[in-house]
Amino acid sequence: MNITILKGDGIGPEVMDQGIKVLEKISELYAFPLNFNYGFIGGDSIDRFGVPLTDDTIEMCRKSDSVLLGAVGGEKWNQLPKEIRPEAGLLKIRKELNLFANLRPAILFNQLKDASPLKNSLLEDGLDIMIVRELTGGIYFGEQFHDVIDGVETAWDTMKYMDYEIERIARVAFEIAQKRNKKLTLVDKANVLENSRLWRKIVEKVSNDYKNVELNYLYVDNASMQLVCNPKQFDVIVTGNMFGDIISDEASVITGSIGMLPSASLSDDKFGLYEPIHGSAPDIAGQNIANPLATIMSVAMMLKYSFDMNEAFDRINAAVEKVLENGYRTKDIYEEGKTLLSTTEMGEKVIQYL
Ligand code: IPM
Ligand code: MG
Repeated sequence: MNITILKGDGIGPEVMDQGIKVLEKISELYAFPLNFNYGFIGGDSIDRFGVPLTDDTIEMCRKSDSVLLGAVGGEKWNQLPKEIRPEAGLLKIRKELNLFANLRPAILFNQLKDASPLKNSLLEDGLDIMIVRELTGGIYFGEQFHDVIDGVETAWDTMKYMDYEIERIARVAFEIAQKRNKKLTLVDKANVLENSRLWRKIVEKVSNDYKNVELNYLYVDNASMQLVCNPKQFDVIVTGNMFGDIISDEASVITGSIGMLPSASLSDDKFGLYEPIHGSAPDIAGQNIANPLATIMSVAMMLKYSFDMNEAFDRINAAVEKVLENGYRTKDIYEEGKTLLSTTEMGEKVIQYL
């Protein structure tokens, strides 16, 4: 197994070190060879090479079986022009590696129920939503313009989708829904946007191949409301790049802590990039207090989606659950009466329970 590691900025390196340790432990338990290559992204790459992602690092990723990424961004690079800011590295790696399918599970651990901003009565028996976000198209990558036209400063961004882009993400979503509770919600704005109407058409066509999955549609404004007043109606959500960005933050926070959520960004082979959903959190960087569980669960997703190691996936998640059950917490999810652990101690605890 050949893995490229991109630690990135802020708490990225700290949480990644725990993810790496867990992966090493798994390779020992399941006796497979593991090889790490280290590349650079975000501010880390800007400081070294002047750009947020170099061709060398892209090449290194391409030659690996999978990529594990920490986080990018920080105050220090905020004044740079948009094209060379840390975020540009993230968009570039998604596009270059064709990582069109972004899976963002929002799972509420029973032990963290009280950390959710939602009432407990809305979260009976936990919460388990999978958001499937299109990641290499739409308004993030459409034509942009910013200039003065006839004395008026004008700017636009274009939200464009091609049928095949919608079809391939729809198939990923249906496949996942089929293995879960067989319910898929397309989130769009078809009452206003032409490209949303194309989404409906294509997703409905694909649904003919997945007759056992119940398909429904919600406008994005309504979906945002439903997420906080009736979150349990959702199983799998499929949506475009920008709507997915917005509602995945909303879904993540109702699970109690953004520090707990992993993600996978997949291409059409088994290749994937795995990263925690949280950002670089510069305010707590270097203090050994960040929560490494999202990174550790991203490692679990890597084993499942890129290497078909379902047992190892379950094993890591079970270890995380046991850690929580036994009252161990990092600062972000700490409550009175629990045992406070540092980033490294949390990593070690998970390994102990593995
Ligand atoms: C995310 C982030 C990125 C996005 C930013 C940092 C470019 O918000 O991964 O959700 O908008 O996709
Ligand atoms: Mg986002």
